Amino acid sequence: QSPDCLLEILSPTNEALERAAHLLLKGELVAIPTETVYGLAADATNDQAVAKIYNLKKRPQFNPLIIHFAEISAIKSHVKWNNMAEKLAHTFWPGPLTLILRKKIDSPLSLLATAGLDTVGVRIPRHNVAHLLIQKIGKPLAAPSANPSEAISPTSALDVRRGFDFKKPLLIIDGGICESGLESTILDLTLNIPTVLRPGLITPEAIEEILQCRVLRSSPNSLFKAPGQMKRHYAPHIPLRLNVTNVSSGEALLAFGPSPLSGGAKMLNLSQGGNLEEAAANLFRMMHELDQPFFSGIAVMPISSEAVGIAINDRLCRAATKKEN
Ligand code: TXA
Ligand code: MG
Repeated sequence: QSPDCLLEILSPTNEALERAAHLLLKGELVAIPTETVYGLAADATNDQAVAKIYNLKKRPQFNPLIIHFAEISAIKSHVKWNNMAEKLAHTFWPGPLTLILRKKIDSPLSLLATAGLDTVGVRIPRHNVAHLLIQKIGKPLAAPSANPSEAISPTSALDVRRGFDFKKPLLIIDGGICESGLESTILDLTLNIPTVLRPGLITPEAIEEILQCRVLRSSPNSLFKAPGQMKRHYAPHIPLRLNVTNVSSGEALLAFGPSPLSGGAKMLNLSQGGNLEEAAANLFRMMHELDQPFFSGIAVMPISSEAVGIAINDRLCRAATKKEN
């Protein structure tokens, strides 16, 4: 750690959580672990605190944030709850599912957090650190992934620090490596047909089984645009090539399955056994590790587009999209 680096990583002791709660209540930001990825959290009812998230991430302000709660009862005072939400909440919460619902007019949520929309994305995370903090401060937390806009999402405290290489103080609570490693599935319940806006570990099939109705799927190429479903996202600093069948000597290889390609300067395997959930959990961490200036790029082997593979390929396609000038 360089002397002028003010990013501070603390283990989740009582004392650290007290300090984090105190900072959040004062309108400061804290990076917190969730079961999906690390979040950059602020009191969701405080406009000035939420503005700091947009500034630090350099995030466009039309891109709304997900609001994190500890209890369903607290969510109900902010959104118009319905039967579908009830069924899904009881099946998948706490866990990696975000529901988009209509906002209640008298909800005190920051308008900046919801980007002025009349809808809001809510979820109850499964990580006990996130849960404890929300309970401690008694307020919902707005938290996007704790990375600069467009960059790779962090799945460890060190990855948060690597992303924000700057001179402002930021407390990071270290809750270990994120269990699922991919952002939550986002399901919009305000449309005529429930629609997955961002694929994740909870698949449309699993949602259909609970709701007993059809669920629409978005794809990276679909014209339908959720606010903030940017084409370029999760991007490493060096080029990313997908579905490769050969690797050049200067490239790093992100392999998948029991028969990794040979060649390349370094190889990491998302899952030797070809397990998609294991690959999802490893994806961002391995992309971070291979994102080094001494490689000419990252070559990624094909990953099947079934089940969780859809979410993995969604992230990879966005990560491989070139910067628009
Ligand atoms: O797993 C996760 O969801 C993580 C952890 C920290 O909870 N959070 C996360 O936040 O991925 P973020 O900001 O990186 O992604 C939030 C996505 C954005 O694409 C945003 O456009 C969408 O949620 N979103 C939020 N509110 C929305 C709304 N009212 N309507 C449509 N999309 C919304
Ligand atoms: Mg993000």
